[in-house]
Amino acid sequence: MQRFAVLGHPIAHSLSPRLHALFAAQFGIELEYVATDAPPERFAEIAHAFFAQGGRGANVTLPDKRPAFELADAHTHAAQRAGVANVLTRRADGALEAHNTDGAGLIRDLHERHRIELDECRVLLLGAGGAAQAVAWALLDAGVHELILANRTLERAHALADTLAQPARVCISEWSALERCRAFDLILNATSAGVLGAAMQLPLSLVSRGTRAYDLAYGRAAQPFTTWAGDAGAAQAFDGLGMLVETAADSFEHWHGVRPDTDEALRSLKTA
Ligand code: ATR
Repeated sequence: MQRFAVLGHPIAHSLSPRLHALFAAQFGIELEYVATDAPPERFAEIAHAFFAQGGRGANVTLPDKRPAFELADAHTHAAQRAGVANVLTRRADGALEAHNTDGAGLIRDLHERHRIELDECRVLLLGAGGAAQAVAWALLDAGVHELILANRTLERAHALADTLAQPARVCISEWSALERCRAFDLILNATSAGVLGAAMQLPLSLVSRGTRAYDLAYGRAAQPFTTWAGDAGAAQAFDGLGMLVETAADSFEHWHGVRPDTDEALRSLKTA
């Protein structure tokens, strides 16, 4: 039987084993998929052991996405641009390949599930870490009109803008200057504040009645941001559960060559 895993720390809460079981059931594919705790300082050792014992592929979650990227022998274009990986695959030639499905998964959830037209959008992206970098590229590919980067540590926002190298569409706002920005069409939270349980100060003036807000995290970690957006009067506020399902489906397709029905899987997760 083919063996897969999700590696992260902590990992007990992960929905990935459930999702891959739901996808596999859609096609009658038999597989083993386990959640494995991998603190970042032991990530290389744990991942090597998994693949040495016949592991075929692994999803990688916080805080191991950068170590996963560094461990790989080869990188897909999406991983190269993101600088972090959420999928590791043992290729037929034995090489370990890093891939990143975060950007594509977010765009599919925004566009196909939530019907958000991105090409005319003025977007505020909060955060400049690995998650932000992965989705920033995808937002530009999707044709966003204007992308404003804001990060608590200004230098990281500058570094991300330099990497993106599209000054006509990308600019930076200092966090303290956000109160002087006019309202955005879409605000994306790619910080880890919610996951860490930390407070984040944002001015209500970022939101107007047409604003949509989206947190890349899901469940309880997304609540402070989506609640803030709702209180500020946003048209809609979403968490990133749909993105998780889409990114998982991309990795499933990468490994098995078939595309699962993500709406059906999302319904199963929500009714559980
Ligand atoms: P990830 O891979 O999830 O992006 P990361 O690379 O550690 O993780 O980045 C975390 C992001 O969340 C950073 O942009 C971080 O801001 P700093 O660069 O200033 O550290 C942001 N972040 C974390 N806690 C935050 C908080 N309480 N308020 C605002 N931003 C926060």
